[in-house]
Parts: sequence; structure tokens; C-alpha cells
Amino acid sequence: MTESVWAPDGGNLVVHADNAEFLPTLPDGAFTLIYVDPPFNTGRVQRRQETRMVRNADGDGDRVGFKGRSYDTIKGALHSYDDAFSDYWSFLEPKLVEAWRLLADDGTLYLHLDYREVHYAKVMLDSIFGRECFLNEIIWAYDYGARAKNRWPTKHDNILVYVKNPTKYHFDNAEVDREPYMAPGLVTPAKRELGKLPTDVWWHTIVSPTGREKTGYPTQKPEGLVRRIVSASSREGDWCLDFFAGSGTLGAVAAKLGRNFVCVDQNEQAIEVMRKRLGTKADFRRSGSLPDASLDQAAPFTKA
Ligand SMILES: C[S@@+](CC[C@H](N)C(=O)[O-])C[C@H]1O[C@@H](n2cnc3c(N)ncnc32)[C@H](O)[C@@H]1O
Repeated sequence: MTESVWAPDGGNLVVHADNAEFLPTLPDGAFTLIYVDPPFNTGRVQRRQETRMVRNADGDGDRVGFKGRSYDTIKGALHSYDDAFSDYWSFLEPKLVEAWRLLADDGTLYLHLDYREVHYAKVMLDSIFGRECFLNEIIWAYDYGARAKNRWPTKHDNILVYVKNPTKYHFDNAEVDREPYMAPGLVTPAKRELGKLPTDVWWHTIVSPTGREKTGYPTQKPEGLVRRIVSASSREGDWCLDFFAGSGTLGAVAAKLGRNFVCVDQNEQAIEVMRKRLGTKADFRRSGSLPDASLDQAAPFTKA
């Protein structure tokens, strides 16, 4: 394994790297929270894998591998779709397997997608984590932009939430901002004052094109959304990871909430945006081979 630029007792990091190269340098179980918002389409042709091995935490997998660890062999179930689709999933799948490896026993993965990808991702994550590790599907609802006339306008994203261990995961909704009641007249003044705990449907505006939060990075996600995720699923001092970091929203929120973070992106523009946004809150490093210039041009990949 290549030596990692990350150390558990080191400081926050922004790493300019292809995550496929960087993630294997990180040790098992290092992160309490992983939030990722991958690009929709990489435009990159990848080799398909027919089968793969997934670590079995209980030790009763059908194969034994390195250091006597137990593995399940999972058949690639998603290769019957068109090439662009398969290429996308063969790009994403190994990173999700890495996410599983990197999560601590009390850790949680939030995978941010949209309605086009989420159902396939659910099947894939069920096979990587186990169905019993599926915690939630969060719907992020917003109301912005053009409205289709020939179908219901799609105004939401989907965030799949998986835990490493369904009996040990950290979740503290008391740390999360509360919301106004939809029917305030039906609850007591005390409850009205306190607000209600959020459900799995989150109404939140997009990053305002004229607002303070805007970095200029096209796929930037609102801090309010990521703040809920970080607040509920990590504690102060825990390590949080975003390996499709873009403008560094995860890093910005983690720093404000006293969590440690690693943000990884292969795109030079993303690194420059994070340099401005995170300033002295992180060390900036480069890892692995330099990103391919064509990938730099293709990213950030928009989901439109
Ligand atoms: C949708 S954006 C993330 C936006 C981010 N959540 C934010 O709030 O700004 C996806 C990012 O993944 C990066 N990316 C794509 N493939 C990558 C790879 N193999 N390694 C590292 N970063 C990659 C792109 O450069 C892009 O910045």
C-alpha cells in the first residue's frame, strides 16, 4: 500500500488526487462519516467486472483472503444495461466498496444522487453493505429552475444512507436544527416554539446564485443540507470524508462543527475553490499521479 498523506492524529486535508488511487492508501475503519455527491457521468470507459469480493464483517463469507479476512463473492448484477450506464456503475462501484472499508464500526455513508441513479445505487449498496445496513432514503426537495410541462417537474435529489453496523452506528438527531410545524395551530405553543425534528424529507433552497455561500462551483450543495448530515452522524473530533469534494461543502461544514475532514477531488478548479473556501483550515496535498487533463476539462460533471 502506498503511504498515505493522511494520519489519524494529523490535521484536516484537501487532497488533489484521483480517488481511485487515493482511497486505497487510507486505513480500514478510519472515518465516522462519508458524504459523497458523485458526478453523474464520467465519460470514462471502464472495464466491467463480472464478480467481486466484498469483505464479510461477521467472518462467515464464502472465501478467505488477505490476513485471513472473510469475503463474500458478489455477482455483478448491473451489467445488462447500456454501455454508458455500465461504465458509470463500474466507475462508482469500487469507490463505494472502498467507502464501506473506510467506515468505522459506528460509521455512516451518505450517497447523494438523483432520481435517475438512485434505484440502481440502492441495489448496489444493498449488495455491498447488506440490506440490514440501509438506514434511510432522504429526499432533498427544492423548488427552483424551469418546470417541465409534459411530466411532473423533478425538484428533488435522493440521499441514500447506509451504516456500517446496524447495532453500533452513531446517530444523534438532537444535534440537528429543528423545523417549523406545517400546521402550527395544531400543536402547543411550547412545541411550536421548539419546532419539530426533521423527517426524511428535507425542504431546503439550493445555493443561492447571489448568496454568501456561493463559490461559483457549478454543482455546489447547500451547507444547510450537509450540516444536518454531519451533526447527526458524527461527533466533535470525528473524521469525515468526501472523496468527490467539489467546492468542499463537507469540509466547510465539518470545520464549523469541530469535526476533522479529508476532501478529495481530481479537478484543479475544485482545489482552487477549496483553497479560497477553506483557507488555513486544511493542508493542501497532491497524491498519486497527476489527474488526466481531459478529466479536468470534463469535471465538474453537471447532473442536468
Ligand atoms: C457533483 S461534484 C461534488 C460537489 C460537492 N458536493 C459540492 O458541494 O461542491 C463531483 C466532483 O467529483 C469530482 N470527481 C469526479 N471524479 C473524480 C475522481 N475519480 N476522483 C476525485 N474526484 C472526482 C469532480 O471533479 C467534481 O468536483
